[in-house]
Amino acid sequence: MAKTKSVYVCNNCGNDSPKWLGKCPVCGEWNTYVEEVVSKDNSSKNNLHIFEMSKAKPLLLKDVETGEEPRIDLQDGEFNRVLGGGLVPGSLVLIGGEPGIGKSTLILQTVLGLNNIKTLYVSGEESARQLKLRADRINSNSENCFIVCETNLEHIFVHIQNLKPDFVIIDSIQTIFTENVESSPGSVSQVRECSAAILKFAKETGTPVVLIGHINKEGSIAGPKVLEHIVDTVLQFEGDQHYMYRILRSIKNRFGSTAELGIYEMRQNGLREVSNPSELLLTQNHEGLSGVSIAAAIEGIRPFLIETQALVSTAAYGTPQRSATGFDLRRMNMLLAVLEKRAGFKLIQKDVFLNIAGGLRVNDPAMDLSVISAVLSSSLDISIEKHICMTGEVGLSGEIRPVNRIEQRVLEAEKLGFTKILVPQNNLKGFTSKVNIEIVQVRKVEEAFRQLFG
Ligand code: TYD
Ligand code: MG
Repeated sequence: MAKTKSVYVCNNCGNDSPKWLGKCPVCGEWNTYVEEVVSKDNSSKNNLHIFEMSKAKPLLLKDVETGEEPRIDLQDGEFNRVLGGGLVPGSLVLIGGEPGIGKSTLILQTVLGLNNIKTLYVSGEESARQLKLRADRINSNSENCFIVCETNLEHIFVHIQNLKPDFVIIDSIQTIFTENVESSPGSVSQVRECSAAILKFAKETGTPVVLIGHINKEGSIAGPKVLEHIVDTVLQFEGDQHYMYRILRSIKNRFGSTAELGIYEMRQNGLREVSNPSELLLTQNHEGLSGVSIAAAIEGIRPFLIETQALVSTAAYGTPQRSATGFDLRRMNMLLAVLEKRAGFKLIQKDVFLNIAGGLRVNDPAMDLSVISAVLSSSLDISIEKHICMTGEVGLSGEIRPVNRIEQRVLEAEKLGFTKILVPQNNLKGFTSKVNIEIVQVRKVEEAFRQLFG
């Protein structure tokens, strides 16, 4: 019988200690230590020798060939783009997201669309029947998708050896356990050991593996940070459950840029790629409504036009409320202070609510101008003309600062039929395209307001 002992492991950084600690001495986080039971003879020497010894030889760096990495086309434009142009053989991809957001749907739909690739879908959460029901709902059936409901890692490797799939999905890493570690599935050491073994499998056989991961209350992927270090790519699937739009964001990617973003719409029959994100906005008819302004924003590397809505009303109680959905609240407070100080609008006794349409979260600083315009439009109760959009970062002294990729923003606005766009002054250097939209350069917020409200 293997002797067992307990260690305490930090959930955040994976550091371990023989006794419980309130504060992790390594990463400084509080209350992250959890007890783990490990068996005495748990060493990597005891691991099953499922894989052959590495045949890799040291190479001179200059002799390494740098051809285009062959990639597997996932038949899904958005997914391919987020991965940096397709799935790299032998890569380990982690997809995190809140429960019910659609991770399993995304992956199942993708593998069902791959007819020539033999896939093994390991489900630790749902029965084969549930998976079949979901597949029927998505309404696509692949000849080459195998399903196994299994949580024991050693058994999973046996299935893999028998089936020899070209692509493996593990749904989810928190339900898988290895017999080498005695703590329960989902614990730090289980997650770490299992993903390390899966990584070894992926690298040695060149089989790509997608892991689905849960996220915890704080919104980060559960398990130690080491999990994020182990894998090649970390993607986050996010969105608001009450809206149909979902965003696939790349947080880490060893084979591509992390600026990429995939947008989907959740439908009754699966996810639909949204290749033109501005359609989020185009469905709305906001003519004559005050408190609405349109920003030419960029998320990832794609431009899109997005609706900013604000409501300003007199505070009923002593302390005015400030709330922002899809936008950083501190940034909004900063912009309100700029409005007060530089443009002389008294908002101190007002409630201000801000909302970005479609349940999206936008981090582009070029949204600033649109945010303050929406606030002012609501405060004055004057609507902004329907065919005007704007882009620009607002500085603390009320100046409008240049933004990146101005050309893309202007072209997108033109494409969507806007007739006028406000842009920061001195931002048009190198802008060569001939456009059919009036470009108005503004230097300060007052100038922008004069343009919008006369
Ligand atoms: P699921 O993929 O199970 O989420 P996760 O694996 O991230 O926990 O998605 C579940 C939600 O998606 C569920 O609320 C139902 C919804 N859904 C649709 O709206 N349309 C569909 O075609 C499918 C399959 C699911
Ligand atoms: Mg799921």
